[in-house]
Amino acid sequence: MNDSNRNTNKFALTTPLYYVNDVPHIGSAYTTMVADVIARFKRLQGDSVLLITGTDEHGQKIQRTAEAKGLDPQTHCDQIVASFEALWHKLNIQSDRFSRTTAKGHEAIVQEFFQRVWDRGDIYLDRQQGWYCVACEEFKEKRELLDGHRCAIHTNQEAEWRDEENYFFRLSKYQKQLEALYQERPEFIQPDSRRNEVLSFVKRGLQDFSISRVNLDWGFPIPGDRHHTIYVWFDALLGYVTALLEPEQEPTLENALSQWWPINLHLIGKDILRFHAVYWPAMLLSAGLPLPGQVFGHGFLTKDGQKMGKSLGNTLDPFDLVSRYGSDAVRYYFIKEIEFGRDGDFNETRFVNVLNADLANDLGNLLNRTLGMVKKYCKGKVLQLTGDEITADNPLKTIGLELGDRVSTAYESLHFDRACEEIFSLIRASNKFIDESAPWNLFKQEKHSEVEQVLYTVLESVRITAYLLSPIIPNLSSDIYKQLGFSIDFNNKNVVNQAELFSQHAKWGMLRVNQNLSKPRPIFSRLELPPDNSSSQS
Ligand code: MSP
Repeated sequence: MNDSNRNTNKFALTTPLYYVNDVPHIGSAYTTMVADVIARFKRLQGDSVLLITGTDEHGQKIQRTAEAKGLDPQTHCDQIVASFEALWHKLNIQSDRFSRTTAKGHEAIVQEFFQRVWDRGDIYLDRQQGWYCVACEEFKEKRELLDGHRCAIHTNQEAEWRDEENYFFRLSKYQKQLEALYQERPEFIQPDSRRNEVLSFVKRGLQDFSISRVNLDWGFPIPGDRHHTIYVWFDALLGYVTALLEPEQEPTLENALSQWWPINLHLIGKDILRFHAVYWPAMLLSAGLPLPGQVFGHGFLTKDGQKMGKSLGNTLDPFDLVSRYGSDAVRYYFIKEIEFGRDGDFNETRFVNVLNADLANDLGNLLNRTLGMVKKYCKGKVLQLTGDEITADNPLKTIGLELGDRVSTAYESLHFDRACEEIFSLIRASNKFIDESAPWNLFKQEKHSEVEQVLYTVLESVRITAYLLSPIIPNLSSDIYKQLGFSIDFNNKNVVNQAELFSQHAKWGMLRVNQNLSKPRPIFSRLELPPDNSSSQS
């Protein structure tokens, strides 16, 4: 990261700004859940975090959707935005900014940025001819289209022929600088497979792209030429910048960029990689601004192995999923089951099985029965020892001592599935350990100190697990912590954002002598498949 006036204690990240042509789908929910997990993890480490999400509201697609509903575009956008906000709330997303491209101040930012690029001599008027996919809001090359000029992403839509005068951005001028950027900062585009995609795209030679549209009202006019409207992507990418303004700040680039720029991480899906990894850095280079830290392009979600879509009638409604199973369950499945960066599948049978196995059985039952044993076998209902008194050869202590570092490394590198695997290796070892040590026999043999040692090590393992899983399942983690006698609420940003807390709680051995353990209560009830569910295990 060589573009850095970045302060290491600050971390700004973004989700894409979602189109408001429809209510949010599971793809938008997925990126936002991941972003929230990263933000929570960074806060846990004591970083000051800014999580930006929001909506992309201009352009032909939105204008047409509103028209079809007989609404003026702003009213339509307001309605859809409300459903995004509601879903984020349901999913327990703690975003710091919700950036709307129709928000006050955004136009001023777009115009100032446009002017900078103009002053660089990077904008010119020319003729644009080509096939335009309104759903992608993008001109397509002929070879990218299917028969009948249908878009390969929106297969039920035909691209439209356009022949018009547009303003163009001189992307070609930045070919060398972009190549140097990818070379010098291999982490700029991740994962590597996406980086390679971009490298080969850029190698074929960059062409200038049009940044204005005619015959479109829903958007900002080009400064000095009201016949043209600024291209929705040019406007939308700058939504990341507008989001950085404090609510009452005057909307200038200087203000927006003063605190949180450059953004550390843009999370996006693979279909919008070019915009973020090629167009966006070129626009910033032209405006003379530092570049973001990283663009991470994740994969696509499928359902029961098939591409999701309205035409197939197999979309997955995120509202319905959370209502039925709860936010922690939904978050856990997508974060743990999908290797971030690759495509991933949702299958309801698998969903139920994974959650029952991991959260209800392995973790939930373990806590429940261990607390029950403390009550039964330890007179004072408390344990009288500390982690230091557990011998170094204890198998759980051995794993526990290294776990915090291993899991941090996994979170840092966005390997969330691996973080979960690491954490659950301790839980599985704990289940094995308690069965093999059989505290019920030790109790009969009056080996009280051994009973305490076993119960301590297991409860401490559950504790560290809850702590390290808290970015993913904050409600469950808070509940476990409560039962273990701590008053930390992982949904409280102010409490969580303390580095000392992390350095202590991410280490094995935090349970104290006389820790005020509470009565066991099940933390996660077993899930049942709805009776009509016909999806088979994939
Ligand atoms: N408005 C633009 C982004 C502008 S960012 C300045 C946009 N919006 S979108 O709503 O169409 O897409 C938002 C995100 O959803 C994209 O990252 C896209 O990859 C993602 N997904 C759409 N369908 C998806 C799946 N089936 N699975 C996972 N993510 C998917 O593009």
